[in-house]
Amino acid sequence: MAGEAAPPPSGVAARRAAYRAVRRVHQGGSWSAPAVDRALREASLHPTDRAFGANLAFETLRWEGTLDWALRRVVRRPLEAVQPEALDVLRLGAWQLLFSRAPDRAVVDTAARVARAEVGDGVVAFVNGCLRGLARSRPSLPSGDADHDLAIALGYPEWVVAAARERFGARARAVLAAGNRPPGVTLRAASPGARDGLLAELRSGGVDASAGRLAPEAVRAPGAHPGSLAAVAEGRATVQDEASMVVARVTGADLPGGSEVLDACAGPGGKSTHLAALGHRVTALDVHDGRARLVRDAAARLGVGATVRVAVADATRPPLGPGAVTAALVDAPCTGLGTVRRRPEVRWRQSPDALGRLARLQLGLLEAAAKLVAPGGRLVYSVCTWTQAETADVVEAFLAGNGDRFRLAVSVGAPPAAGGPDAQLDPDAHDTDGMYVATLRRSH
Ligand SMILES: C[S@@+](CC[C@H](N)C(=O)[O-])C[C@H]1O[C@@H](n2cnc3c(N)ncnc32)[C@H](O)[C@@H]1O
Repeated sequence: MAGEAAPPPSGVAARRAAYRAVRRVHQGGSWSAPAVDRALREASLHPTDRAFGANLAFETLRWEGTLDWALRRVVRRPLEAVQPEALDVLRLGAWQLLFSRAPDRAVVDTAARVARAEVGDGVVAFVNGCLRGLARSRPSLPSGDADHDLAIALGYPEWVVAAARERFGARARAVLAAGNRPPGVTLRAASPGARDGLLAELRSGGVDASAGRLAPEAVRAPGAHPGSLAAVAEGRATVQDEASMVVARVTGADLPGGSEVLDACAGPGGKSTHLAALGHRVTALDVHDGRARLVRDAAARLGVGATVRVAVADATRPPLGPGAVTAALVDAPCTGLGTVRRRPEVRWRQSPDALGRLARLQLGLLEAAAKLVAPGGRLVYSVCTWTQAETADVVEAFLAGNGDRFRLAVSVGAPPAAGGPDAQLDPDAHDTDGMYVATLRRSH
């Protein structure tokens, strides 16, 4: 490869790292954050190139649908017939042509170099030709308000736009747009009351940090690198979105210390360890062995191993007796659309077909956990998404069968809900993950 002998022009190594991260997500099914971390680590880049490469990878994954829409205009065969490796090189180049200020020639030239180095000589002319064509006839993003236009303009599948309109009405555009803004780092101080000390420690180490707005243990440190913070390494803080902290707070609100609490779907343990830190005795279940292990590891790391009992179990058939707990949290598996800021690819991984299956599982988990809640106790349902089918509809279906013993109550500690006692947090209104939380009270 002739181009390899000379030092590559600035940024080729970063683009190659971005390409490898995108390939790991597409081919290996990895989540973007670990894929990007690994690709950057392996490339040993200068910090500026690291930031560039990470941004290019995340943005390419985020805008995949829009990039494919643009590429379909210049690629002379169906994209499905394009070699997947070449298609990912095209997407990286297309993102730069459509969304960055990089000069067209540099974009086409570096994309061709990435193609030669990562895919092979055979695709270089193809990549070159397609990207030159795109640079010549760059389409403007649609400005219309139809689902299809919004999907292209905001970078989401059309069904997600339709689902957002159903759930958020006129706010749908703002919520989806906010889901495209990378969130920055949020930390939870591992012990309640330790937040101010953590803030002082971070600031004295030059980290831009401020108190969170929704949970008393939350610290926002937008530009921090958690891996290099002593507080994280020593188990005094953990990375967690503030919306998740709200869910643990809601579950444990006003309970006497030492209360028995079930976390029915616990892996990787963010909410279980938080509940334990709030002084409760937690039974943490997860159906997957590896996820249960993550809970155990997190509990040990954060110093709450003694009060988190972890079991591998299917929570639709939980290994606990009726009325065993004062509060149960069902933080159910879901489409995860509320996490698109951190996992931009999730929108392309999900499909509307999943909604019915997930809603049935969510209802089954809620019904099983309800049996374990003692009279007078609390059942909390949460999901890191916002679709109607996985949120209010699940609670409504649950109440249709269990309304004699359970009623919806205000979620103490959650931001006031706009239209009822259940709360929907979202990246636009709360600058958090899109997290739904509902509190159900058992009467007798
Ligand atoms: C949204 S995640 C939970 C996040 C966790 N509560 C936290 O805060 O870190 C959902 C979890 O449910 C687990 N899960 C899926 N089906 C389950 C089932 N039938 N019983 C128990 N756990 C299940 C998945 O393995 C996954 O770890």
